[in-house]
Amino acid sequence: MKTTINQVDKYLDQEVRIGAWLANKRSSGKIAFLQLRDGTGFIQGVVVKSDVDEETFTKAKALTQETSVYVTGTIVEDTRSPFGYEMQVKQLDIIDESVDFPITPKEHGTEFLMDHRHLWLRSKRQHAVMKIRNEIIRATYQFFSDEGFIKIDPPILTGSAAEGTTELFHTKYFDEEAYLSQSGQLYMEAAAMAFGKVFSFGPTFRAEKSKTRRHLIEFWMIEPEMAFVEHEESLVIQENYVSYLAQSVLKNCSLELNTLDRDIDKLANVTAPFPRITYDQAIDLLKEKGFNDIQWGEDFGAPHETAIAESFDKPVFITHYPANIKAFYMKPDPKRPEVVLCADLIAPEGYGEIIGGSQRIDDLALMKQRYQEHGLAGDAYQWYLELRQYGSVPHSGFGLGLERTVAWFAGVEHVRETIPFPRLLNRLYP
Ligand code: 4AD
Ligand code: MG
Repeated sequence: MKTTINQVDKYLDQEVRIGAWLANKRSSGKIAFLQLRDGTGFIQGVVVKSDVDEETFTKAKALTQETSVYVTGTIVEDTRSPFGYEMQVKQLDIIDESVDFPITPKEHGTEFLMDHRHLWLRSKRQHAVMKIRNEIIRATYQFFSDEGFIKIDPPILTGSAAEGTTELFHTKYFDEEAYLSQSGQLYMEAAAMAFGKVFSFGPTFRAEKSKTRRHLIEFWMIEPEMAFVEHEESLVIQENYVSYLAQSVLKNCSLELNTLDRDIDKLANVTAPFPRITYDQAIDLLKEKGFNDIQWGEDFGAPHETAIAESFDKPVFITHYPANIKAFYMKPDPKRPEVVLCADLIAPEGYGEIIGGSQRIDDLALMKQRYQEHGLAGDAYQWYLELRQYGSVPHSGFGLGLERTVAWFAGVEHVRETIPFPRLLNRLYP
């Protein structure tokens, strides 16, 4: 019976055939232990000299790393392995021999591994990280579908900036100037006026000259947008969503979290509600923590976010930032117009901002005024103004950065390991 490693529990004490690659190997005169992987998981194949013909044992001992092979054998329980099963190998049919695979079990430098990203993805650690990424994506669709959202796909080629104009990738669009999307938000606002509650999931691009462990040039964002939802209600949806993601990963990725040595208790603690502090309170907290120079009106950097997060054992919302350090579309607080109805969600353990969101300006006159202040006047934004012209309603939305969330849940230091082929300041290969 042909099967895959993640299905072997259905074939206890039965003979199966699996297409696999050799990840690693140990052998002595009488026995060979093959670490096999097939993309669905990892299993140990045991080849005992006295149980197989001589040719098979010779083949097993000579198998090189990443050689592809059909392995036939009996599935048995193995209480010593975290996976719980191993295979007693009877037969090996080599498909293609791999010679001198560049990534060996010894340590390699980061640049070397990044140059071989197309091969590095095969490692057990990278496999675990990508499975966690996949689980977050699966749980995202599940959560928003259960909550009555529909998925809407905004364009990637756009004629207008959504966030800062300095971080745009320019491209030619026949005779016009176009940009790669920094955020689907403006289009998602149009979608919310048509469908009520919507979310998007897609790639976004920032031509940011940042070289930090939290920045990618191309990253994936989940952007919900909700008609008739005000700032406070949006925060409740955000905390429920992030808790759901954490609990889904805990439930469905225990092997992967174990492979990554992740502290499970820290994730188990990610349950709604999350604490909320205002920007003003955050400034006070930073002063108490020794950031004496910080002034009201300044944006927070990574060290500030990390220091604030240290005071909480859950993710924390920082709300009501000064209007002039946030995007043009954020709605001013009616009680105090110098701050906006927005929140950044800061992850614990130094993983930084994972969500940015706000209530949006719904008043046409105010939106026109903001346009002028930001120098955005022009035809490219006419459609966005019209959303405030025909039955404008209060609405809110947010964007969750997928890679930062993967880094946090997986306990991975740098976002470059959380996306299959990272685009970084100095890297477009492979
Ligand atoms: O805070 P940002 O820039 O917000 C927006 O783009 C809004 N338009 C979203 C919305 O309201 N619909 O980005 C949102 C999130 C950040 O909190 C962060 O997690 C992630 O996207 N992010 C990045 N992740 C990796 N590399 C980068 N260069 C990122 N920039 C933002
Ligand atoms: Mg932000």
